[in-house]
This record gives sequence, structure tokens and C-alpha cells, in this order.
Amino acid sequence: VRALVSRPPTGGAELIDVPPPDLGPGQVRVRVLEVGICGTDLDIVAGRYGRPPDGASYLILGHENLGVVEEGADPNGPLRPGTLVVATVRRGCGTCAFCAAGRSDFCASGNYTERGIWRANGYLAEEYVESATELVPVPAALRACAVLTEPTSVVEKAIEQGQLVWDRVAYPPGAGPRRSRALVAGAGAVGLLASLLLRLRGWDVTTIDRHGSTTLAAQLLGEAGARHVDVEAGLDALGDDRFDLVVEASGSAGLDSELLDRIATNGVLVLTGIPDASGGTPKALGAQWRRLVLANQAVVGSVNANRTHFAAAVADLGRLAGRWPGLLERLVGERRPWDDGPAVFGHRPEGTIKTALVVRGA
Ligand code: BGC
Repeated sequence: VRALVSRPPTGGAELIDVPPPDLGPGQVRVRVLEVGICGTDLDIVAGRYGRPPDGASYLILGHENLGVVEEGADPNGPLRPGTLVVATVRRGCGTCAFCAAGRSDFCASGNYTERGIWRANGYLAEEYVESATELVPVPAALRACAVLTEPTSVVEKAIEQGQLVWDRVAYPPGAGPRRSRALVAGAGAVGLLASLLLRLRGWDVTTIDRHGSTTLAAQLLGEAGARHVDVEAGLDALGDDRFDLVVEASGSAGLDSELLDRIATNGVLVLTGIPDASGGTPKALGAQWRRLVLANQAVVGSVNANRTHFAAAVADLGRLAGRWPGLLERLVGERRPWDDGPAVFGHRPEGTIKTALVVRGA
């Protein structure tokens, strides 16, 4: 079968023929429809991240997947031939307590694998096989936006983590749940999805980026009732504003550090971006960490997502589609045939929020 591969640590992207995957017990064969591209993929192709399966010379790319069940499914179960499915990304280490409990997103040993990223082949192939337990069914009505399920799952976890921390203080005795002010830093796919999910949950949302106020992202944010602020000239554009929940979705270490100054008392900063480990020297670090303690703030790193987050993502994509019809489809701004993959990795048009590579048409 054809597959789009990279060769970490060298990187690159090329379409090659690979052996078709064997169908094992409990596994399902899935035909791939489309796969979204994110910063992690760009890092792998640029030779900055990723690892092939042990002993292999290449890594099949792609983790933001959408496919259709072909064979091996339980004809009486939720997965039948023709069912739309999204596969999870991480596989547990098999040894730590978190993975044993189904929380590989909190794997403590670090010996996990991630399909399309780390020691496991991804989904940018004509087909893949996977355990039925790692596949999440998607309603056919979400076909046009379901490629956003995986990034949405990552956002679901990040917001869940932030909400858990916020909830430790957000319920004054006698009061009900409080939704307050959220800042989302970054208006790429993850930042936009975070903004939308927070709006859906009733937060007052401000989203920042450095791309001006006439972009599609700024427009979508406006339609969803979020405030967009261009911080090209710096975070001073936010005035003195501080926020109860700050969700970082830019991957900039320098910005992470600046965001500490934007957390309100009792607030929480959730980092989702994976910054370049070599970049950025945080300013006034001592003062920032000190204030972090004195104001009962929390900084929570968040990576990956488990099956429950994927299921939550599918449900929320349905709610978003109902609340803002057509908006998610515009977020997947560009669809390209996957043969264009190598070129797509090299050049992404300005203003495109999410590019999906189409492996197989409707
Ligand atoms: C993926 C996650 C993964 C992370 C780190 C992200 O792009 O969405 O599933 O855990 O990269 O590899």
C-alpha cells in the first residue's frame, strides 16, 4: 500500500510502497479518508522530532486521522464496515500504573509509542489496522469536520486539566459553578478549538495572535463571541487584564513565560504547545515563579489525550456544529491530495488554519 513517510532524525517526506498491515485478532482494517497536518508533523519532516518504529528506517506520518472501517469489525457492535472512525494516537508502555489504568496520556515510564510520531507508524497510508478498542466511531453527520477530532481531543484534555485546577477554588461556599475569563494564546487550530470549546462552556474568551484582525481566525473568533486581540506589538495590547484560565497554544517558550503575568489570582495556566527546547530565555523568572506561589496559581503541562477525550471531542464537535453551523468546516481551510504531501509540508499558505491531506475521496 502507498504511505507517506519520513525518516527521523533526517526528516523529509516521500510517498513509498509499504507492505499491507496484517489483521490481527481483535483488530480492524480501516481505509484512510483524510489526515490533518499539525506543527508536530512539520517538526518531524524538518528533522526536529519523531522516531521510526524500533528497527525500521522510516516512520509513516500522520496522527490527525479520519477513516472508514473496512473489515474485521464486529457486525453487531458499533464498528461495522462503513463506520467512520478516528483512532487514538498513544499506546501505553505496558508497565506503569497509569497505562495499566487506561491513562497512557499520563504515562510515567516514557516508554509509550505514538502513531505517526514516536516509534509507531501513523495513518498517512491507504489503510491501517488497529485494535477495535483504540477506534472511536464518528457520526456520518460530522464527516466534514471529523478530521478535527484528534486536535480537539488534545484541547479537551488541556481544558479538563485547567478546569480541574480552577475548580479547586471556583466554587465559593454556596455558589454554583463559575465560568469566568479565559485567555487563549494562539489562534491556530488548537487555539481556535480551545476558544470554541470554552465559549461553548460559557467562558468569556479573549484569544491572541500576531496576525492582525482581518484573518479568517479573527473572523471565526468574532462569530463565536470571542474577543480577538492582535499582540504583534506585545502583550501590552491586553492592558492590565488577567485571566482565570490561560490556555497556551503557540509553543513559544518566551510567550509561556510572559503568560505567567496574565494569570489572575487563583488562576491557572495550561500549556499545550511544545516549545523548541533550545529557544527563549525567560525574563524575571524569579519574580514570576514567586508570584505563582503567592497567588495560588498553577501551571499545568498537558500532552496527549486518552479515549475519553476523543469521545468528548466527537460529542463537542457535534455541539459546535449545532451552535455555529459551517464554522468548523471553514477551519479546515485547505484539502490537498496526499500526493502533494511533500510540497504541503514545505509550504503552507498564509492564513490557512488546518490543512488536511485527502487519501481517499468521499
Ligand atoms: C499530538 C499528541 C502527542 C504530542 C507529542 C501532538 O501533536 O497531538 O498526540 O502526544 O504531539 O508527541
